[in-house]
Amino acid sequence: MSNLAMEPLVRNAWYIAAWSHELDDGPIARQIAGEHMVIFRSGDGQAAALEDRCCHRAVKLSLGKPVEKGIQCGYHGLVFDGSGACVDNPGEQLNPSYNVRAFSVVERQKMIWVWTGDAEQADESQIVDFPYHDLDEEWNFHFGRYEIAANYMFMIDNLMDLTHLGYVHLSTIGGHPGEQDVAELEAARTERGAKFVRWMMNSTPPPAFVAAGNFEGPVDRWGEFEYVAPGTVLQWAGSHDAGTGGREDRNKPGGLVFRLLHQATPADENNYHYFFSSAVRGQAPDGQANTLFHEANREAFLEDKLFIEAQQEAVSEDPSRKLILREHDKAVAYGRQAIHQMQNAEMSQAAE
Ligand code: FES
Ligand SMILES: [Fe+2]
Repeated sequence: MSNLAMEPLVRNAWYIAAWSHELDDGPIARQIAGEHMVIFRSGDGQAAALEDRCCHRAVKLSLGKPVEKGIQCGYHGLVFDGSGACVDNPGEQLNPSYNVRAFSVVERQKMIWVWTGDAEQADESQIVDFPYHDLDEEWNFHFGRYEIAANYMFMIDNLMDLTHLGYVHLSTIGGHPGEQDVAELEAARTERGAKFVRWMMNSTPPPAFVAAGNFEGPVDRWGEFEYVAPGTVLQWAGSHDAGTGGREDRNKPGGLVFRLLHQATPADENNYHYFFSSAVRGQAPDGQANTLFHEANREAFLEDKLFIEAQQEAVSEDPSRKLILREHDKAVAYGRQAIHQMQNAEMSQAAE
């Protein structure tokens, strides 16, 4: 089924469809796992996601506006609530047959999660937990999003093999390529994905680390990444001055400790939304290290975009050609195993 390149979409899954704050500016039209949706917050504060097509004359509901009870179509004023039912049919009686498809939505930890598959199977306990988004005393996150023209799994691969850092991100978050190439790597398959910890002892801090962490000499640097299929990668990483016990106690005071959430939500098989949030421990929202680090990430993730889109272009020219996994790709392989497991579960269910 797969040549380790393009992966089909998984539909029975929770995806981040928007950051909570994105709904402040009105309805959003966004394609999530093949579905064209309007995502909005109605006057009562509830977030909702509906098919972006009015059942009356097919106009996009995202051209309408949120009202107290739901969203009002911009064309003839029909109002749909979060369950997709028409709750206002101006000048006429309500008709129970007027409705649009609704998607299950859970708003949690500043994220809008949407379930794109069989509604009966939407189990909220499967939503990835990232409590740090709400722990404002210790973490103040900056949020970002890029649209990337590539299959979503190329981003997961990118995050599961950090040897690209020394080449792609030299001027930002990378570091010395030779040191990146020989980083200690411990990777494991987890129930829902893959996890690895990487250490670069006594290594040269990259420019963004020096700027945000004020390091004067070498550092002991780690990156702990966990992939949760289909689209989430949780990152806990940082550096302490070399030889000061950072490896034994990564959470010790000082140094530079940060967390990121990365999410590749497929729009379709050839495009994904890259949601990312980042925070430096102990920094106010506008703290200098927080801002510097977020800016460095924004720049670095554009560097990734360049490579991932170039990769997609080449693969699209001949999707039948195989890609290679080398030794550093252990976590990449585990990640692909995890997504295949999800795809297989979905296929065997569909076949029942
Ligand atoms: S098309 Fe939506 S109300 Fe007519
Ligand atoms: Fe990268």
